[in-house]
Amino acid sequence: MRSSLEKILVRMLDELGLITDEPGRLTRTFLSPAMLRANQLVGAWMQEAGLTVRTDAVGNLIGRLEAGVGAPLVGASGRRQAPPLPAKTLLLGSHLDTVRDAGRFDGPLGVLLPIVALAELKRRGATLPFHVEVIGFSEEEGVRFASAYLGSAGYAGRLREPDLKFRDAKGISVRGALEAFNGGKFALPKAAHGKSNLLGYVEVHIEQGPVLEAKKLAVGVVSAIAGQSRFKLTWTGKAGHAGTTPMFLRRDALAGAVEFAAGVEAIGRRTPGLVATIGSLTVSPGAANVIPGEVVHTLDVRHAQDSVRRAALMQIGRLATQVADRRKLKRAWQRTQENAAITCSPALTERLTRSVQAVQGKSLSLVSGAGHDGVVMSALTPVAMLFVRCRDGLSHHPDEYASPKDLGVALDVMIDFLSRLAADY
Ligand code: GLV
Ligand code: MN
Ligand code: MN
Repeated sequence: MRSSLEKILVRMLDELGLITDEPGRLTRTFLSPAMLRANQLVGAWMQEAGLTVRTDAVGNLIGRLEAGVGAPLVGASGRRQAPPLPAKTLLLGSHLDTVRDAGRFDGPLGVLLPIVALAELKRRGATLPFHVEVIGFSEEEGVRFASAYLGSAGYAGRLREPDLKFRDAKGISVRGALEAFNGGKFALPKAAHGKSNLLGYVEVHIEQGPVLEAKKLAVGVVSAIAGQSRFKLTWTGKAGHAGTTPMFLRRDALAGAVEFAAGVEAIGRRTPGLVATIGSLTVSPGAANVIPGEVVHTLDVRHAQDSVRRAALMQIGRLATQVADRRKLKRAWQRTQENAAITCSPALTERLTRSVQAVQGKSLSLVSGAGHDGVVMSALTPVAMLFVRCRDGLSHHPDEYASPKDLGVALDVMIDFLSRLAADY
């Protein structure tokens, strides 16, 4: 039975992986045409599984399964019980947007796996005494606006006016994109649920690192997620003729940005556990025979301990000042994201661990260096995360891969988790 469920999940991941904004490689960004097509396809799968589907004002796809009110329920005591009213809601999900030239698993796995698990429970005739919402968040990667978690921030009522001001490469603001999506005015959404109505949020995700592979385990449980800061930096010098301007008279914005990048890397290397990345850089005017007058680039800095990340940011700030002063460049910083490290809910994590132990024999606790929707969702409700082994720990790459066998283990864990939660409810 399990192998047929894995096959269904793999087929869904493959089919969704073909929906892209860039022919020949997988790229789906916030509210893009491919994102809307992805929502249609996943929405249809949600409906087949018996979920009622809606899309919210920030493009999140939400499939809801009402508690099986009136159906025979068996509690921990073994006696038939009436469900307590009103039932609470369990949230399951992850994101449907991707990085550029992405793999098929980062995000979609955490949306599709719960759909397959809920369909299987329905096939078995099992009803849950709580509501379930499966959420496909519209934005987690921060590719289009260099600011991540717009989807979960919208769902959790954490989107703020300054978030709407970021602009994409075409100059469209977040507000502009949301107004186009909603066909008119956009108002900042309230949280989709009151905290007291929720049971928690559980996200399944590939590990995106090598630990589970090294430990020869299919799945593990996340204990905490590293904190993260992202910035957009602009270096402004003076464009000029590349053949006639002597080196000592130049104010080359790219030379400054490159010196800064090397310094950032050095700070990352000498600070244990710190990761610092400049992942996108644009040079203007951008010609072989013109001195770069302006450089705009991103900066992403992460650490499991917020105090270490903050100290590193101070060093990086001083470095930028030194480089700018020495080279007579102007530099401007825009903070596009700031998330403290979060600790997963001990109670929900313990439940998930019990299910991992039941299915896999033993569990493993991991800290996530990658960001996840759970970071923002933790402001709304207790969060737990299940990691699935991925080949060579590779992610944000088209070769990203999790084996059908490991997906089967993760499915079994989800089914076990839902069944135990229902029994204890
Ligand atoms: C998301 O994948 C992130 O960690 O940047
Ligand atoms: Mn992800
Ligand atoms: Mn990612």
